Formats: sequence, C-alpha cells, structure tokens
Amino acid sequence: MLAELPPELIVHVQHATTLLRTAQRVCILTGAGVSAESGIPTFRDKQTGLWSQYRAEDLASPDAFTQNPQLVWSWYQWRRQLVQDKKPNPAHYALAQWQEYITLSQSAQQLTLITQNVDDLHEQAGSTVTHLHGHLGRNRCSQCDTPYIVPTLSAADQVNFSIDLLNCDQCGGYIRPDIVWFGESLPVNAWQTAEDAAANCDIFISIGTSSLVYPAAGLAHLAQKNGATLIEVNPNPTPNTIVNITLAAAAGVVMPALLQGIIDSCPTPKD
Ligand code: OAD
Repeated sequence: MLAELPPELIVHVQHATTLLRTAQRVCILTGAGVSAESGIPTFRDKQTGLWSQYRAEDLASPDAFTQNPQLVWSWYQWRRQLVQDKKPNPAHYALAQWQEYITLSQSAQQLTLITQNVDDLHEQAGSTVTHLHGHLGRNRCSQCDTPYIVPTLSAADQVNFSIDLLNCDQCGGYIRPDIVWFGESLPVNAWQTAEDAAANCDIFISIGTSSLVYPAAGLAHLAQKNGATLIEVNPNPTPNTIVNITLAAAAGVVMPALLQGIIDSCPTPKD
C-alpha cells in the first residue's frame, strides 16, 4: 500500500508513522475533505445546480433562517438528499479500523476522533466520533430547542422549494436542522471533549479541513501550544502554518497507508 504512493509522500508517511507508533494520545480533527471522496462536496467547492448562486456561509446562519426560513430549510432538505446514499470511503474505514485496533490490541494509545462534518459517514464506518457542528439527520425547534423527527425525503422526490416549513409541537416555532450555524456556539460537551483531547495529545492530525472556521481551527493551535506534533492530511495548502508534517494527498490514499504502517509496527493483538 505504501509502495503505491509517490516517493516524496512515502518519506512523510513513514515519518508520521514512526511518531504515531509511540504516541500515547492522538487527537484527530476531520473536515469536509474526508467525505469528498464519498461524493459529498466540500464547503469551499463551488455549489452546484439549483444552489450555485448561494454561498454556504449565506445559508448556514441564524440570520438567513430568520430572513428566509423556507430557503434555508429547502437547502438542508436538498443536502439531506445529497448525502442519503453516500457511503464511507477508505479514509473513514482506516480511522474506524485504527480505533478498533486500539481496542482489540488493548493498546494504551488513546485516540479521540472529532469531526466538523454533519454527515454520519464516520459512524457508518464504525467509528466513535464527536460532532462539533451538529448532525444533518437531526432537527430541533428554532425557539425552544425541542428535538423533532422529520420523515426524510425519498430518493425519488424532486428538490422542492415549496416544501412547507414545519412547526414545533410544543411551542409552534419553526423546525430547523440541528446544526451549528455561523455565529452560534458549539455544543458544550462536544467542545469540552475536543479541547481536552487537543490540549493533552502528543499528536494532532487535521484531515480534510481548510482550517478556516473557528473555533475548530483553533484546536491545532491549542495542541501545538501544549507540545503536540501537528500532522495535516490535505492535497491542498491551508493557512495552517504551524504544521510539522504535511501529507499532501487525498485522505482516502493517505489514511490507509498510515494505518498500515501503525498496525504493521505493533505487536500482534492479544487473544
Ligand atoms: P472546507 O470545505 O472549508 O475545506 C475542505 C478541505 O478539504 C479543503 O482544504 C480541501 O483542500 C480539502 N480536501 C478536498 N478533498 C480532499 C481529500 N480527498 N482529502 C483530504 N482533504 C481534501 O471544509 P471544512 O474545513 O470542514 O461549518 O469546513 C469547516 C466548516 O465550515 C464546516 O463544518 C462548515 C463550513 O461552513 C458549518 O456548517 C457550521
């Protein structure tokens, strides 16, 4: 698997693997890039089709929902249709297998997986993951926060701008996706988990994130301040200038190679 990578990447993967073999605590932050190879467009990709005239930032905000709840709700219904048939890719599976390997081998290594993604591809692959930005599959009342279950659209349904807004059974407020929008606070428990893991890790790995959106992007800085080595997996440059090892290729290529290097180097799992 390693041999299939470009030579210049092999050197960096081997360096990362060497460090990961002895790391006690690893914190991993994933972003939209980890789901790109599953066919889910990233946020910095140009939007397509009906939504090409909008920027994600202009739809994913409380102001946008207040001004035009129908538009924002419709966009999320469309995004739900977009992800509903998507499957995990080799990067998701490598991360899940790494977690499983730690459990099965009774390794002392701790791995905390945190994602900014609102899809469930990490879970589909078998991972335990903390979501910082909420879940596309969940809804709640925009007024009283009561959770709300909405029947999902079937694959045969057309994208429909006239989809009626739903109202909360408790207070009548509009139902919104349970997603953290720009300007909103992150879920307290999820953020606490992320901060603790970043502040106490030996190695922090950013995978498929542009490192543009805070506070999530600040986790790498927190880790570095506390002495962690930073690894970034991204085929494109990011503004994250504090990275120690850059693995400049697709996550679906890098993560299986990294996992293989870690597992091959470890003792055989105990019975
Ligand atoms: P972005 O869309 O900002 O960035 C995606 C990153 O993935 C880019 O840096 C790409 O270069 C990289 N990328 C693309 N394909 C990749 C691949 N195959 N392997 C690895 N990397 C790849 O997504 P995020 O950083 O996740 O917030 O965005 C952060 C937040 O901004 C999102 O959670 C969302 C968004 O607005 C909310 O919805 C609140």
